[in-house]
Amino acid sequence: MATGGDPAASFVDTLPKAELHVHLEGTLEPEDMFAFAARNDVDLPWASPDELRAAYSYTGLDRFLELYYRGCTVLRRRADFHELTAAYLRRAAAQGVRRAEMFVSPQSFLDAGVPVADQLGGVLDAIAEARTDTGIDGALLVIAQRHRSEAEALELLEVLAPHRESLLGVGLGGAERGNPPSRFARFFADARRRGYRLTCHAGEEGPPEYVREALDCGVERIDHGYTAAGDPALVARLRDEGVPLTMCPLSNLRLRVTDDLSTYPIAALHDAGVVVTVNSDDPPYFGGYVADNYRALGLPDPTLAALARNGFTASFADDATVAAGRRAVDDHLAACG
Ligand code: ADE
Ligand code: ZN
Repeated sequence: MATGGDPAASFVDTLPKAELHVHLEGTLEPEDMFAFAARNDVDLPWASPDELRAAYSYTGLDRFLELYYRGCTVLRRRADFHELTAAYLRRAAAQGVRRAEMFVSPQSFLDAGVPVADQLGGVLDAIAEARTDTGIDGALLVIAQRHRSEAEALELLEVLAPHRESLLGVGLGGAERGNPPSRFARFFADARRRGYRLTCHAGEEGPPEYVREALDCGVERIDHGYTAAGDPALVARLRDEGVPLTMCPLSNLRLRVTDDLSTYPIAALHDAGVVVTVNSDDPPYFGGYVADNYRALGLPDPTLAALARNGFTASFADDATVAAGRRAVDDHLAACG
């Protein structure tokens, strides 16, 4: 349906959105990866951006992460984090995103000798500039990598301490199988004590039990939560405790978590009363930014609007921002309906 001043813009393009699950390193477009590699003198195993694109075929999360971590090695300087974030926020704003809660995972960059102040400083400068340029409301969460030890995750909290006031929250990401949230219970407890909002990747490839463990750790939002859909008691718990899921349809499709989006459980979870949201995860790697993820669901406009409303509800923004976002979705639906 055409909307507003641009006759080519669709309902989904201009639908006001909150994006709550996107990894900044995962927004690295192939051409930009090669440009960063050239200026930082980093070798890549692909001869060209097209050859990299041809490698975007994964048998599962672990194979994807191998490629993704290789791509991360091109980010070495504060300016890289700044440009990466600015580029994502420009694209997100153009897709109707008004609130973006983004992840960055500092541990591999720290290992490579990039100071955390450069990583976070570059990202936070870009967030402040984008707020002025496009009005997009950005915020940053830091992810600990779950293939590492809990001691390393606790050490990360120490490293982040000088930046505490600039950060919204922390989460857990990376290789899920064999790395349950319960192994990070002290990490989550310490992060809560420091005042961070808490999220955790769970139920992407891992069993529903991992989602339960994340809830037991006091996590406020589950990233993915796909496998919870097959566990009615867990669905009821998510509904009753009001813990949202940040689902990523194109990511789940490309990582073979699901083989068909026509049976994707987001609508069923919504009908069951769970606060489900639509997000992009690592857009170029999975073939689409957030609007593309909404479109891929093939759901009616009022359902997509309900999911967009959930995005604001599930965000960690203040009450006025949440209310304004929800109202903007309602106004958009009324104007297009
Ligand atoms: N880091 C980046 N993308 C991820 C994903 N889909 N799952 C877990 N960790 C990730
Ligand atoms: Zn993710």
